[in-house]
Amino acid sequence: MTIRAVVRGVGHYLPARVMENAEFEAHLETSDEWIRTRSGIERRHIAAPGETTSQMATLAAKAALADAGMAAEALDTIIVATSTPDFTFPSVATMVQAGLGNTTGYGFDVQAVCAGFVFALANAQALILSGQARRILVIGAETFSRILDWNDRSTCVLFGDGAGALVLEAEVGSGTSADRGILSTDLHSDGRHRELLYVDGGPSSTGTAGHLRMQGNAVFRHAIEKLASTAETALEKAGLTDGDIDWIVPHQANIRIIEGTAKRMQVPMDHVVVTVQDHGNTSAASIPLALSVGRDRGQIKRGDLIVTEAIGGGLAWGAVVLRW
Ligand code: UT7
Repeated sequence: MTIRAVVRGVGHYLPARVMENAEFEAHLETSDEWIRTRSGIERRHIAAPGETTSQMATLAAKAALADAGMAAEALDTIIVATSTPDFTFPSVATMVQAGLGNTTGYGFDVQAVCAGFVFALANAQALILSGQARRILVIGAETFSRILDWNDRSTCVLFGDGAGALVLEAEVGSGTSADRGILSTDLHSDGRHRELLYVDGGPSSTGTAGHLRMQGNAVFRHAIEKLASTAETALEKAGLTDGDIDWIVPHQANIRIIEGTAKRMQVPMDHVVVTVQDHGNTSAASIPLALSVGRDRGQIKRGDLIVTEAIGGGLAWGAVVLRW
């Protein structure tokens, strides 16, 4: 008997305000053309003043629970992947728990920056496989707009805000790769590369929230090298190959990274869910947002084999293979 963590529902939330590339041209030496050609980003959503990560996470969670037809009280675990919590503590997950009216489960946050959702999924699977949880809400939610240096053209044009959520439930599978649910995970980090992508503040260093700093070009090179490799390792662990993939659902940082990874994996772009043009890089929220939008577009269907992959600050990176 093999226990699988199976997707029961998916949902997302995007703030109402849409910021087009052209808006940056008024105060920065940049252009819609540069942003579009270097990153593939055309617009991003920006949280309203006072709109927080936990509020967006709660709305995405409600959408995913409605999609699953599941009551919040049925959840025993809530995991939120975020690097932009409302407060240093409590966790965003406990705020979501209160927002949903769940009092019997428990919640905690996972912090692996842009790879956060992949790390959260791997943790959720481990809890389900070990029998410690049966129904888990896994959320990625970010307000990166609050940690951007809006005068730094090399970073502020790249990021956006939003939240996405999945409901996972334990189900007995056959033990083969034909099962629905999470089939394998592959996680990595290498803390020697901290200076490539970090926030220059925090409670125990500066006592401030700080601003995001990135050596984009160096991160780009790591991404191209590491993403296809972790995705293929995860596939191998599941006893599958590139040819079995229905959809790559990548972290949405840069269309050139997404295309480069797909090319290395010999997966045509019409089997890749792409949302970067509309969302920008929403860090830990990007994969659940893409899963939800991909499902709504009719791209992702029950039984499809999906590979997600992401890399971000740490550096931390990884992949998850799951059958929808
Ligand atoms: O999600 C976490 C992981 N993060 C990522 O995956 C991001 C990875 N990196 C990237 O996506 C790309 O490296 C960027 C989009 C950030 C930059 O693209 P690039 O092709 O690597 O450009 P670059 O950093 O090498 O910069 C090229 C030029 C520079 O000018 P010089 O030195 O050649 O004169 C930059 O100063 O572009 C300049 N530049 C800009 N020009 C206009 C940088 N930002 C801008 C801008 N508008 N916004």
